[in-house]
Amino acid sequence: METILELEDYKVYYKTLSGYVRAVDGVSFTIKKGEIVGLIGESGCGKSTLIMSLVIRKPPMIVMGGKARLKSIDLVNISEKERRRILLTKISIIPQYALDALPTIKKIKTFLKDIAKDKGVPEEEVLEKFIERARIIGLPSEVVNMYPIELSGGMRQRVVITLATIFSPDLLIADEPTSALDVTTQRHVLELLAELRDTGIIGSLIFVTHDIASVRQIADKIIVMYAGKVVEIGETEDIVTDPKHPYTRKLIEAVPKLGINYKKKRLSGLPGSPPSLLNPPPGCRFHPRCPLVMATCKTREPPLKPLNGTRLVACWLYDQSKGEQS
Ligand SMILES: Nc1ncnc2c1ncn2[C@@H]1O[C@H](COP(=O)(O)OP(=O)(O)OP(=O)(O)O)[C@@H](O)[C@H]1O
Ligand SMILES: [Mg+2]
Repeated sequence: METILELEDYKVYYKTLSGYVRAVDGVSFTIKKGEIVGLIGESGCGKSTLIMSLVIRKPPMIVMGGKARLKSIDLVNISEKERRRILLTKISIIPQYALDALPTIKKIKTFLKDIAKDKGVPEEEVLEKFIERARIIGLPSEVVNMYPIELSGGMRQRVVITLATIFSPDLLIADEPTSALDVTTQRHVLELLAELRDTGIIGSLIFVTHDIASVRQIADKIIVMYAGKVVEIGETEDIVTDPKHPYTRKLIEAVPKLGINYKKKRLSGLPGSPPSLLNPPPGCRFHPRCPLVMATCKTREPPLKPLNGTRLVACWLYDQSKGEQS
């Protein structure tokens, strides 16, 4: 399968008066064409920073190093002009809180005009595309003459999705696309996202969520982040039924029944919260909270390594050498 996104030792920091916040600190993974990937981890672990940085970079965010490629496009060294060009056509984003971000004083039609202008495409063409896509997405064409405030949460999210996928991007990135919606609407939106992949309207999808049930519903693969690092990657069912990293275990344990959202719960048996990324702990960043901590963990950072089959884990528990020698 063709690789759509490839990250290697990718680092994104925030420059602040107190120093660098190491929000994404050496992350590596690939996403293949057609894959739906769920990105999970507690609040403040760098999920939004990671995915937003692929699309929009604004100070104080700085890409410090590593590789990020979208097919043949180098996203690290891309010019601002090129970035604007690929936005919506190759890569598209539904930001966190997108529902609230739609300015209420603009009709949907006005958004379409803005997109047409930005892309140098005739307005009629964008309008036509929107109406065609809206039909697939289950929106009446009348929405173009409406204001976001006149639409329900579910409808607004469909508008956001329609706008984001109007030019059939290779990669759609969605930051908590359903968290503001009721459970039934959430399910419909997730089904819709999967359908966009199935019909080839989007190539691949990476989405952030705090809801394990959502990931389980549509994701092929799960990436677990903790304190700016990827700690585990695996196929969805493998991760949900047999999590390996002690942190992933805690995340999954926090979900005694499907449909429970770990953001609103304290993680059972896991005291504390993720560390400040201004000054993260040495060794494994999870070691101060880990119930299975060993001496090695306090000084040496575990690399993300293949465990069996498709699983990758960054934990000394699974490393034969335990990192003891050297
Ligand atoms: N503009 C900023 N300046 C400095 N630090 C920032 C900025 N934005 C985010 N951070 C820090 O970067 C880290 C990662 O934040 P990020 O928003 O990416 O986390 P997240 O995993 O998306 O969390 P959530 O689940 O709450 O959305 C946090 O420690 C946060 O405090
Ligand atoms: Mg976030």
